[in-house]
Amino acid sequence: MRKIKSALITGITGQDGTYLSKFLLEKGYKVFGTYRRISSPNFWRLEHLGIKDKIKLIPCDLLDEGSLATALKISDPDEIYNLAAQSFVDASFSEPIATAQITGLSVLRLLEVIRLLKPKIRFYQASTSEMFGGVKKGSLNENTPFYPKSPYGVAKLFAHWITLNYRESYNLFACSGILFNHESPLRGQEFVTRKITSAAAKIKLGLAKELRLGNLDAKRDWGYAPDYCECMYLMLQKKSPEDFVIASGENHTVREFVQKAFACLGLDYRDYVKIDKSFFRPSDVPSLLGDSKKAQKELNWNPRKTSFDQLIKIMVEADLERYQQKGPGIIF
Ligand code: NAP
Ligand code: GDD
Repeated sequence: MRKIKSALITGITGQDGTYLSKFLLEKGYKVFGTYRRISSPNFWRLEHLGIKDKIKLIPCDLLDEGSLATALKISDPDEIYNLAAQSFVDASFSEPIATAQITGLSVLRLLEVIRLLKPKIRFYQASTSEMFGGVKKGSLNENTPFYPKSPYGVAKLFAHWITLNYRESYNLFACSGILFNHESPLRGQEFVTRKITSAAAKIKLGLAKELRLGNLDAKRDWGYAPDYCECMYLMLQKKSPEDFVIASGENHTVREFVQKAFACLGLDYRDYVKIDKSFFRPSDVPSLLGDSKKAQKELNWNPRKTSFDQLIKIMVEADLERYQQKGPGIIF
């Protein structure tokens, strides 16, 4: 009889953790997820997709090796997806040391626990296009040298290299997905796309009057989160571990995103958007554009499943429905 596969997802309460859980549950996996103890548990995304009760939740903090080891012992997984991180670039400027600890060094803690306790596990690390940061080159792929521009990018680069180092030094099945920005209705409210779609919905319903933003000229290569989570799984099904860039292959300015999001609701963004210096970063990444040809060829992955316009429509409609049903006070 075929053994049921099991997966451990760190950061299961986040955007990607939730979509990946749903995907793996549908594949028949037994899914375990780690969450950190906080005064009000943050399970709204898992509840929103109706999967919270199908997952075994394990309290675990990335800063505590003992709790990481316990999570491994309880779950005894075939695969680990390491998605937990302090993932907000802006916050990494105000909390650089915490970001280095959580987003960078914790990956080494986890790899050490795997090496010592369960070296046969397949390990996925959530790397990021933010590691390319200031690279001035058209399209970025697996061979492009890195140049991070934020404490977050630097911490992720450490995590990326230590994953590669453990693969080479100890023969672990450890690999990284270098994912470009991916968004959804489950995106955190502080990220620019969700900040825009939720403000547009509130303005449309008369619940807000304006939207304050920073750098509208920044360009990002935006995709749809569920499409990207599938790649994490595909990478761990390969015969040998390799790193992959996952990107849509087109980029747009923040201005274009905001213009289209407001237009979905029949609004002109120029009537509502105010530029606010407090949302500018000490150093911003001006432009990111990814080349995912390797993933298209080797993982048979389609970067055009959900277009830029479709992504905006999905997010705007979801926020409009939320605020119509629940009003402005609800947190999601
Ligand atoms: P997210 O929504 O911010 O989720 C991050 C997760 O990490 C949350 O579950 C959070 O828990 C958890 N976490 C934070 N600090 C922790 C700690 N000290 N101990 C334990 N858990 C902790 O991020 P996402 O968008 O799903 O992204 C998933 C991963 O991919 C992250 O590593 C991110 O850096 C990376 N990435 C994301 C993108 C993107 O565009 N989304 C692109 C490239 C790479 P709480 O719910 O308690 O806060
Ligand atoms: N958050 C935010 N808020 N960003 C703004 C705002 C604002 O009010 N106004 C302009 N921006 C600009 C930022 O300066 C940045 O250039 C761009 O919008 C995107 O910002 P975020 O949505 O915060 O995403 P990010 O690109 O910094 O980081 C995300 O993508 C990375 C992959 O490239 C995060 O998900 C990271 O975790 C991820 O690694």
